[in-house]
Amino acid sequence: NHAVEFYGQHQSGIITPTQNFMVFAAFDLTTSSVSDVRKLFQSWTKSAAEMSSGQLIGEDNNNLNLPPSDTGEAAGLSSSNLTITFGAGPSLFNSRFGLSGKRPASFEDLPSFRGDALLPEWCNGDLAIQVCADDMQVAFHAIRNLARIARGTAVLRWTQEGFQRTSQADPHQGTPRNLMGFKDGTGNPDVNDSTLMNEVVWAQSSDGAGWMHNGTYMVARRIRMRIEVWDRSTLDDQERTFGRHRDSGAPLGATDEFAPLDLEAKNASGKPALPMDSHSRLAHMEGKLKILRRAYSYTSGMDFKTGQLDAGLFFISFQRDIQKQFVPMQKMLAANDKLNEYIVHVGSAIFACFPGVSKGGYIGETLF
Ligand code: HEM
Repeated sequence: NHAVEFYGQHQSGIITPTQNFMVFAAFDLTTSSVSDVRKLFQSWTKSAAEMSSGQLIGEDNNNLNLPPSDTGEAAGLSSSNLTITFGAGPSLFNSRFGLSGKRPASFEDLPSFRGDALLPEWCNGDLAIQVCADDMQVAFHAIRNLARIARGTAVLRWTQEGFQRTSQADPHQGTPRNLMGFKDGTGNPDVNDSTLMNEVVWAQSSDGAGWMHNGTYMVARRIRMRIEVWDRSTLDDQERTFGRHRDSGAPLGATDEFAPLDLEAKNASGKPALPMDSHSRLAHMEGKLKILRRAYSYTSGMDFKTGQLDAGLFFISFQRDIQKQFVPMQKMLAANDKLNEYIVHVGSAIFACFPGVSKGGYIGETLF
């Protein structure tokens, strides 16, 4: 029935195959009591499990004298591979909750990167929820009901909707294309390789914070594309920007999308086939550093100040250690990437995504 199991060793929505739609919400806590936060996670867990299996949430859905506990717009719909993934921002570990001793050693705010143009309204948050589903109404319903349950304890800080081509629209189930027209996700590590996932994605107790064992760390960056500029650049320029062919997704000079990046390959004029400033080449980090990307395209309509489209990539990556994986990679890209001509980072947040729980438990139980 297109349901993804909510309970388990890991939270769903991380190595789950990317669904068609995303609704992301960051929250600010309005309480300073850790027991309120614990209660919030207990109710969020119960409701998230109900929604993931396609049920209405709560008990009061037929009482004429009460507002229904579920807002109702997903009634009768399949759960549409709904996943709900919870995380906590660095600000949860400041002194007000008495949790500062539990802050994982390398879970600190990102440094500022060259070219960042971050707008405070698109940054940070005490808590975050990433909802993904193959149906937009199902995804929106989940965020709406979780925000409603949080009233009195947490308020919305910012939200972002995301999309990719629907799986129905692609008969070949190929790698989805981003709004620059290129296949995006080809170079991702294999999520079915559990040894690799333990190296790249899942935090281990030996990393220092025992409560994060089997959790992971998320980086979210709202990256606006200068679409109008991109659309005026030549195909050759576009392909040299990524170091890949637009049509096939193959590395420049190769024909197979999944051909390994050959950093030594030369083109007919003796120059590197993969330009030194190309995005794939730089992000590859010589094969030494990996992250798991799970990004969505976004559009927030048009920018009324300029008359241009406000659209781009809502970049999400999961990694075992943000300082060791994402930070050096983004430093490299910020300094050298040809793609910087066409993008600008406008939002940024990081979250520690809790380990999964079994039935009867609640998300965050190892921390609170
Ligand atoms: C590869 C697009 C930002 C990390 C790629 C590829 C595309 C792409 C088309 C080649 C296909 C693939 O392997 O998936 C974009 C766009 C971005 C963006 C449009 C911004 C709007 C970032 C950022 C990071 C990043 C911020 C991390 C700091 C990577 C990595 C690869 C990659 C690790 C794979 C490299 C490899 O083959 O080993 N990206 N990307 N990207 N990108 Fe990005």
